[in-house]
Amino acid sequence: MAVSAILLPISILSFAIIYWLGSAFLNHWHHERTRAKLGCPPMKRYPSWDKLLGLDFVYAMFKALKENRFLEFQTETYSARGSKVWTANFMGNRMIYSSEPANMKAMSTSHRDSFAVEPIRVANGAITPFTGRGVSSSDGAKWHFSRGLVKPYFERAAFSNLERLSAHVDRLISKIPTDGSTVDMQPLFQRWFLDTSTEFLFGQTVNSLDNPERDWPHRDMVTVMRGLRLRLQLSSFLFLHRDKEWFAACKRIHGFLERYIDRAYQQVEDEGKTGKSATNVNGEPRTDFLWTIARHVPDKLELRTQLTGVWIPSNETTSIHMSHALFALARHPGVVEKLRKEILDYGDKALTFEGLRSMNYLRWTVNETHRLYPVSLQTVRSCVKDTTLPTGGGEDGTEPIFCAKGDIVHCNRYLMHRDPDLWGTDAEEFRPERWEHARPMWNFVPFGGGPRICPAHVMVDTECSYAMVSLLQRFKAVEARDDEPYTAVMRVGPSNKNGCRVAFVLA
Ligand code: HEM
Ligand SMILES: *[C@@H]1O[C@H](CO)[C@@H](O)[C@H](O)[C@H]1NC(C)=O
Ligand SMILES: *[C@@H]1O[C@H](CO)[C@@H](O)[C@H](O)[C@H]1NC(C)=O
Repeated sequence: MAVSAILLPISILSFAIIYWLGSAFLNHWHHERTRAKLGCPPMKRYPSWDKLLGLDFVYAMFKALKENRFLEFQTETYSARGSKVWTANFMGNRMIYSSEPANMKAMSTSHRDSFAVEPIRVANGAITPFTGRGVSSSDGAKWHFSRGLVKPYFERAAFSNLERLSAHVDRLISKIPTDGSTVDMQPLFQRWFLDTSTEFLFGQTVNSLDNPERDWPHRDMVTVMRGLRLRLQLSSFLFLHRDKEWFAACKRIHGFLERYIDRAYQQVEDEGKTGKSATNVNGEPRTDFLWTIARHVPDKLELRTQLTGVWIPSNETTSIHMSHALFALARHPGVVEKLRKEILDYGDKALTFEGLRSMNYLRWTVNETHRLYPVSLQTVRSCVKDTTLPTGGGEDGTEPIFCAKGDIVHCNRYLMHRDPDLWGTDAEEFRPERWEHARPMWNFVPFGGGPRICPAHVMVDTECSYAMVSLLQRFKAVEARDDEPYTAVMRVGPSNKNGCRVAFVLA
């Protein structure tokens, strides 16, 4: 009796261990066989001592995040492998890290059916309390539907008359001191972007530039996004994490969105009854994003999901990009001078889409900012069926690599954009002139590429060019007012820890 009471647990335990070892061995064997069959040599590896969960790698990454050294961490881990492609174990998941343009291209185009975003963005419940499967977080038919829903709006918004931008930019400029005193432009750009984007997305601006207390959706979005990133990183350990403040912020943002949604549904209904088209407060017909899609999405929760699906990737990206641009301009007076000359040559003509396009130096400057300070660091996908990517395997890193179902692939644009092999020895320098001869292909992908390319890319470049021209019409110089180097803080994308402290000189 006593003996069997001990033997039973022991035999269960040994069976469990044998089973676990056996299946790990079988998995490994299957993995290696498929890899060989596909003709892929092994990749360089992160040398973890913890073979099970890779906790030493996990720790190193979190430490870098905490110390605001995440970008340096990228550079260091790649160069320590001496390879542009390598693998690591991250909490039991196999990660593949790549800074090879060819892999970015294949993952975004020819091989895209083997990769998905849902397993990393939705499947583990990380983001579901905040949003469901919208355009940025779905695959397959659901993605196709959502992309079709949002596409016409972005195409129209990018090219249409730019008058809609002027009120917000004027208000932004009115907040800048004209006596040469120091101003941190980062929060101003954030409020400017919140105002511009709420008007485009929901048909009504929150006007936070004039009413700073109204930027709470922005602050709540900080909480939401920071929580989202953490939750996504925790992956299978998410259940250990509780965050009351995060849930509260989600709830407030939902309430904020629902007021816009109820108003849109009400107007759709009224339009049906009266036959008169709905207008904004200013009497203009509604053409905003919410209005464009509301009639196609009768379910309220679904509509909210579609809204957040566009709001999440939009949130802040443009304002951070503007801060980066100004940060660089304040440190390169020669570039400001050339920009000013081009802008003055353009004259007082109205700023149109074509007009902005005709200013080459401006476009070079915008691209150079995207290159050195990409707002989105990497394209991350989960591999959903065994496949290969073109390069990074073997001793010299030129042979194809094996991606197994379940691997998570990170294509790093930050490193690609600064790779001297791709951009020359001055790759780290801010030098718009390089664009005179640069022929960007898959080595320059600030907005990704292929069918999932950022649908807002033309709109973003137009808005930023517009704001930059307006600023330099009013001011003839920008001076840096701190000499801290760029120090990236990671929320979802990187932004400068010290903001963008500058002073302007009136023209
Ligand atoms: C500087 C500004 C921005 C940058 C650098 C940027 C960059 C990106 C990148 C790299 C992707 C992923 C592409 C891929 O997976 O291959 C993306 C996706 C997306 N972006 Fe942007 N973005 C910016 C601003 C915006 C704005 C303002 C909006 C909306 C108003 C927006 C909406 C989206 C959406 C909806 C997706 C998902 C597309 C899909 O999965 O089909 N982005 N963006
Ligand atoms: C979203 O917004 C918050 C605050 O506005 C910001 O901290 C975060 O970095 C943003 N996410 C992205 C992708 O820009
Ligand atoms: C800027 O980059 C885009 C790719 O995002 C490219 O299509 C365009 O030609 C570049 N512009 C200039 C002026 O080089």
